Amino acid sequence: MFAVHLMAFYFTKLKEDQIKKVDRFLYHMRLSDETLLDIMARFQAEMQKGLGKDTNPTASVKMLPTFVRAIPDGSENGEFLSLDLGGSKFRVLKVQVSEEGKRNVQMESQFYPTPNEIIRGNGTELFEYVADCLADFMKTKELMQKKLPLGLTFSFPCKQTKLEEGVLLSWTKKFKARGVQGTDVVSSLTNAMRKHKQDLDVDILALVNDTVGTMMTCAYDDPSCEVGVIIGTGTNACYMEDMSNIELVEGDEGRMCINTEWGAFGDDGALEDIRTEFDQELDLGSLNPGKQLFEKMISGLYLGELVRLILLKMAKAGLLFGGEKSSALHIKGKIETRHVAAMEKYKEGLANTREILTDLGLEPSEADCIAVQHVCTIVSFRSANLCAAALAAILTRLRENKKLVRLRTTVGMDGTLYKIHPQYPKRLHKVVRKLVPNCDVRFLLSESGSTKGAAMVTAVASRVQAQRKQIDKVLALFQLTREQLVGIRDKMRVEFEYGLKRDTHPLATVKMLPTYVCGMPDGTEKGKFLALDLGGTNFRVLLVKLRSGRRSVRMYNKIFTIPLEIMQGTGEELFDHIVQCIADFLDYMGLKGAQLPLGFTFSFPCRQASIDKGTLIEWTKGFKATDCEGEDVVDMLREAIKRRNEFDLDIVAVVNDTVGTMMTCGYEDRNCEVGLIAGTGSNMCYMEEMRNIELVEGDEGKMCINTEWGGFGDNGCLDDIRTQYDKEVDEGSLNPGKQRYEKMTSGMYLGEIVRQILIDLTKQGLLFRGQISERLRTRGIFETKFLSQIESDRLALLQVRKILQQLGLDSTCEDSIVVKEVCGAVSRRAAELYGAGLAAIVEKRREDQGFEHLKITVGVDGTLYKLHPHFSRILQETVKELAPRCDVTFMLSEDGSGKGAALITAVAKRLQQARREN
Ligand code: BG6
Ligand code: BG6
Ligand code: GLC
Ligand code: GLC
Repeated sequence: MFAVHLMAFYFTKLKEDQIKKVDRFLYHMRLSDETLLDIMARFQAEMQKGLGKDTNPTASVKMLPTFVRAIPDGSENGEFLSLDLGGSKFRVLKVQVSEEGKRNVQMESQFYPTPNEIIRGNGTELFEYVADCLADFMKTKELMQKKLPLGLTFSFPCKQTKLEEGVLLSWTKKFKARGVQGTDVVSSLTNAMRKHKQDLDVDILALVNDTVGTMMTCAYDDPSCEVGVIIGTGTNACYMEDMSNIELVEGDEGRMCINTEWGAFGDDGALEDIRTEFDQELDLGSLNPGKQLFEKMISGLYLGELVRLILLKMAKAGLLFGGEKSSALHIKGKIETRHVAAMEKYKEGLANTREILTDLGLEPSEADCIAVQHVCTIVSFRSANLCAAALAAILTRLRENKKLVRLRTTVGMDGTLYKIHPQYPKRLHKVVRKLVPNCDVRFLLSESGSTKGAAMVTAVASRVQAQRKQIDKVLALFQLTREQLVGIRDKMRVEFEYGLKRDTHPLATVKMLPTYVCGMPDGTEKGKFLALDLGGTNFRVLLVKLRSGRRSVRMYNKIFTIPLEIMQGTGEELFDHIVQCIADFLDYMGLKGAQLPLGFTFSFPCRQASIDKGTLIEWTKGFKATDCEGEDVVDMLREAIKRRNEFDLDIVAVVNDTVGTMMTCGYEDRNCEVGLIAGTGSNMCYMEEMRNIELVEGDEGKMCINTEWGGFGDNGCLDDIRTQYDKEVDEGSLNPGKQRYEKMTSGMYLGEIVRQILIDLTKQGLLFRGQISERLRTRGIFETKFLSQIESDRLALLQVRKILQQLGLDSTCEDSIVVKEVCGAVSRRAAELYGAGLAAIVEKRREDQGFEHLKITVGVDGTLYKLHPHFSRILQETVKELAPRCDVTFMLSEDGSGKGAALITAVAKRLQQARREN
């Protein structure tokens, strides 16, 4: 009895002594609660630094956005392939996620070895090896020829800009394949798979870190899981962060999973005060010195090695094994994490320790075994403590984000150290609870690794991809090939000829109207003129003062609005309103009673028999006043002036806005022989040889032709490129079946096309959560200025979203991206169609004059051209492409067409007087 007591006493004393000895020796590795709280605070600051746009570049904890935006909701389904590369084992899997909404996941998997020569060899070979394994798996499981989406769990720090892409920032742990850092691993693997294209038909839809996979796996079973932690070969954590805090990703609604890459904590020196000589020595002997310093104090790849280094030092100091060292103890990697775990086992621990040390060629005493066991405890306890501190920081962040006093949450856990070490989980949980007493944490072990979660991410991605395909299909309808554009250019050319020829003119859809404007201003024009500018966005009345010789022009103008009920009321009301505006203007200018010559810019198709006569053929754009079509608008204006009986005006000329624009620009540049409007409507005029104009007598000189190209396609010749959306816009317009080219190109209709597409995409459930709002049903909400704003490159997504919200469209950031793309597709097509039309005219002019090359200036006006950020560039590029032998200069008309109308009036007045004098 006494002997037993004595033995027990002796053993307790021995144990105490050994523990004290080791405690003293490893004093620096034992972290107090204050130190842990301090580390927790430091990690909180690191997270903030990693999340900030300006601070991220120098942050060591990279806080990588993962583009995983939500945890699984149970609606995921389908069959997926999965690769799990980067942990202690490389696996290929097939995952079947339940079809019936029951949370049911079936997996089949196979492990493959990862020999050092592969993981530290050449990058291309690494990916080829991975592809080979995948092909082998497909063969064994008889999955060949099946097209399956693949989710890649890749457990290394990757910078992602989307889910299906990831640029490796640096290798960590045991991997160090050449030529991979800084490249996208998804495309490398995709390339490697091409070799197997006979058997492999897979699409990599998602790249996820193992922490993310773990979180998602656990969240599938417990929806409150919002953190994933790996304590395995390496260590790391991810968690769901509020989008508004992630400065590196546009958008502020919802959350996104952040892969913290906490293993790099301390790489900037932030943990130097707690790192020991053993940590430094271990780091120097590692594959990535100076990197992953936090990980090297914690994870499975390093714990055994830390223990070995400590034992070696203690032995050297005579504190262990009677000062003897074995040669095995000198070998790097001889003690592994599984040894540490075995040595710390509750009952067999000491026996295990003896066995392990003996295997290392040592002859340990009882005291040695106790001491070594305690070394293991200190090292692994420190690991758990450090993990707990960083995890506590994440939990605090989550709690603060949610503005909660108490947070209840679940943390998904995985990794061999956590799984096989007998005390590790308990210790970790305990310390976390101590550090964050206001968080109730459930730790959930991911039984099935990270692949189940990766499959969930892939499932969502594949749904998104299917939706994307639907969107792309719609956008593709607006993409014109070069051949199509050449075809359009050539058809336009044919229509020009039809319009000019007497026989074909009556049926021509491009009317090619003679304007009786025969020459450009020569600078001798002078006098005071009134001008009206009706038919564009604004109605203006102007006073233009021309001073001869000096080419100086002074203009005064006033903008008036024409209410919708007048635009679409009776002709008399419309012209009375116009005269009322003139009266107001004269009054405003103090010109009451002055009898001035007037030029009338009237931006609608008019058949002219002289410069001062214009019979409206038909209204276009937003006008529809009755009793005007077939009438001379000059007469109508004269009559309205008479009705008012207040002043008299000498209406000298009626001109189309294209003609006014050409004149305005021609005043500055004599090469300007084309006038183009890309505004509310779409039209072009140009100087034609008289001999080509069969409708007007005479072969000498030139005359300006108002093409009215807006009617191009009215005979069906554009039907092959018209989409259902174009047809819908046409049907809802004031003039169905008419002005088809205009309706595909001009400001008044582009927004409407966009709106029709958005309605359709919403109906298909691809936008606005499938809800068609009243606003979206409202005609005309997308004015040119909004399209232009939305498409501006300088605009961040949030601003696009704000514009949409101002328009009453409650959109998410994803919606905003789609809306912007739709606008882009529609406006690009418009610019290209304009380019094709313009190429037709400049080529015609070049050929007609028999020139090898033509230098010509196009005067341009219109809000679409002026406001849209890309329209003018695309238009110019297209003309260059389709009329390579013409050197076309574009000149923006700064002063509108009123100035040109005044110039035309001046010339006409001069001719009129000359005729009278004769
Ligand atoms: C596995 C996961 O269970 O754990 C892997 O499926 C992960 O994705 C691994 O990388 C981490 O642990 P270890 O110990 O294998 O590195
Ligand atoms: C103006 C011209 O600058 O542009 C008008 O003065 C022309 O004559 C108009 O009709 C065309 O652009 P929008 O965009 O106003 O239709
Ligand atoms: C390393 C990797 C990290 C991974 C972790 C766990 O720290 O850098 O991406 O999550 O190991 O496997
Ligand atoms: C419409 C009109 C045309 C005008 C153009 C630009 O197409 O029919 O005359 O030039 O709009 O305003």
